[in-house]
Amino acid sequence: MRKKLIAGNWKMHKTVNEAQILARQLADRLSDVNFADIAIFPSFVDLYPVNVIIREKESNIHLGAQNMHPESNGAYTGEISADMLISAGATMVILGHSERRHIFLETDSFINRKVKTALSTGLVPILCIGELLEERKSGKTEQVLEKQINGSLKDVKINTADKLIIAYEPVWAIGTGENATPEQAQQAHKFVRELLAKHWGEDIAQNLRILYGGSVKPNNAQSLLSQPDVDGALVGGASLDADSFEKIIRSGY
Ligand code: PGA
Repeated sequence: MRKKLIAGNWKMHKTVNEAQILARQLADRLSDVNFADIAIFPSFVDLYPVNVIIREKESNIHLGAQNMHPESNGAYTGEISADMLISAGATMVILGHSERRHIFLETDSFINRKVKTALSTGLVPILCIGELLEERKSGKTEQVLEKQINGSLKDVKINTADKLIIAYEPVWAIGTGENATPEQAQQAHKFVRELLAKHWGEDIAQNLRILYGGSVKPNNAQSLLSQPDVDGALVGGASLDADSFEKIIRSGY
């Protein structure tokens, strides 16, 4: 049985003070939640201050970062390493988010290096994949997902399903208010699980979590999360407010 994971990607939002306020609200409101895992992904500078709150409250909320560099250290001005994230309290890291792929032109091979580094340091990567609108319209969704999965996971070895998480995020659904239908999400997730079975065998594929992301809101969370292959959500905009994030977590799936 795959336990759902509801993850909040805060993107480039929240100052240190604002991030601490939201973390405190979430820790207070969600302390009883044991039916799902919860994770939040603040900006780099907010990680440590948020971690202070999580520890102070003995919260069940996991902490992760939104990106990292594949090298362990060196002359990479403006970048951040896996060890730095871990030292700030992160246990997870989002890799290959569509905004990284499309605005910052990250390639599958670069993301592949990051996935390997994350795994070697013990960070759990949330690898994001997803097609553009024109790719969906021209019937290329599965082709794109296969290319991204095979490229980003090339020679990646895992021995248990808890080491890595996938997030299917159709690019046309991110920040647009236009979510994939539950059927579209289910179809893509099922396809991705079949691809994962080719990489790591049926057992790992059946136990590995595949999240859906793209305009998840309190009013559509239940229908998406109740699909058999949708194992959680990666929530952007609606995770910035304690009320809406809590509603998604408690939407009953
Ligand atoms: P959204 O973002 O929920 O605001 O669409 C999701 C994401 O980019 O992870």
